[in-house]
Amino acid sequence: MTESKLAVVILAAGKGTRMKSALPKVLHKIAGLPMLGHVIRTAESLAPEKIIVISAPDQVKQFRSVVGKHEIVTQDQQLGTGHAVRCAESALKNFTGDVLVLYGDVPLVRAETLKELLQKKSGHTVGLLAFKTEHPHGYGRLITTADRVHKIVEEKDASADEREIKLCNSGLMAISAPRLWELLAALKNDNVQGEYYLTDLIAASGDAVFMNVQDRGWAHNELMGINDRYQLTDAENVYQNRHRWDVVMGGATLQCNYSVIFSYDTKIGQDVVIGANVVFGPGVVVESGVEILPFSHLEGCIIKSGARVGPFARVRPGSVIGTDARIGNFVEVKNSDFGAGAKANHLSYIGDAAVGESANIGAGTITCNYDGVNKYKTDIGAGAFIGSNTALVAPVRVGNDAIVGAGSVITSDVPDHALAVARGVQKNIADWAKTFFNKEKK
Ligand code: UD1
Ligand code: CA
Repeated sequence: MTESKLAVVILAAGKGTRMKSALPKVLHKIAGLPMLGHVIRTAESLAPEKIIVISAPDQVKQFRSVVGKHEIVTQDQQLGTGHAVRCAESALKNFTGDVLVLYGDVPLVRAETLKELLQKKSGHTVGLLAFKTEHPHGYGRLITTADRVHKIVEEKDASADEREIKLCNSGLMAISAPRLWELLAALKNDNVQGEYYLTDLIAASGDAVFMNVQDRGWAHNELMGINDRYQLTDAENVYQNRHRWDVVMGGATLQCNYSVIFSYDTKIGQDVVIGANVVFGPGVVVESGVEILPFSHLEGCIIKSGARVGPFARVRPGSVIGTDARIGNFVEVKNSDFGAGAKANHLSYIGDAAVGESANIGAGTITCNYDGVNKYKTDIGAGAFIGSNTALVAPVRVGNDAIVGAGSVITSDVPDHALAVARGVQKNIADWAKTFFNKEKK
């Protein structure tokens, strides 16, 4: 069997009024990535010739950064799903092959499922993705025999008997071009909503097959459509469970799986152990053998193998925590590079810094990296020891194997191997306290 060529059209022109939001519906995020971004990533993994996003005119600007290099076509008026697909016709003028229609608000569909659908469709005009549910309210219902679908009836147009049907239209389908354009041109809008339904193309084609995801042993929730914020939280849960599954099956341990939140792009290595209530923002890579203790928040960072982070640590973008390094409780690290075996175990802020191998940063150390206008770098040499409660006023360098005395405010460079002490000299006044107490307590 030769594989047919593929183009993807993503419908996203809907306003999504039920979200009650100023933000277009498909830009609401799941695991830190807009729904539309999820659909685009999945579409990209199918390596189609083209990906075209259908947008309302006033959403184009906001869509651009999510859509990237792919084409956006505007649908000036929302006259229905059939009309929306038709908007892509001129962008696909000479294309012959399968046009896969995806929805911006059905973000959890997996590439594997779509590949199977395309296989199922081969040799037919239309292939449709379907699912069964005990709660079919709102979905189009399938009229079928065996694997053939003869017709889809929208809920609003359905008879009482048809509403009993539990087999539903996911909306996602593949259709042969150029036949698609002929079928769309012939659509009528003589239905309750007065819209051009993409679903009417099923009956018109006379040659549509369907695939029920549950027949493949897959969960139907990958076809869930997001219309309101409750469904958005539901979809977030479905996504998180999927990511947790991938992480643990990849050889990591989640001590309390439901409390760990991943970003869509979080990468976790083997033999990583993650405690409860750990949250990953975008762009985190955790190498093998790392331990992340409870209540830590990580974003835009690399944690190298054998390192330990937390509990209650915050690692912010631009940070690299070196091999076997230690970032302990109430330590915040931003845009800083920790060398192998370096430690900041308690109560510190390390920003815009380079920390050499095996350096030890005492409790309460602060890099004063910002003067209210500009940011400056702090450089801490390999093997350096920073005493507790030190303020390192950047730009500043502490040399290799140097020591900074506790409570110092360091404003100029410390040479390699030196001791720097920068604080008031202690003075003891004999019997001063005795005199004081005798007077006050009498
Ligand atoms: C549609 C299907 C229904 C299916 C359901 C699955 C039709 C007629 N009905 O119904 O059978 O069970 O999806 O979720 O196709 N859109 C546009 N332009 C338009 C209209 C819609 O881009 O003019 C986009 C929306 O942004 C959305 C998608 O198409 O991403 C689906 O539209 P929506 O109005 O939500 O269709 P449903 O009523 O849910
Ligand atoms: Ca919908």
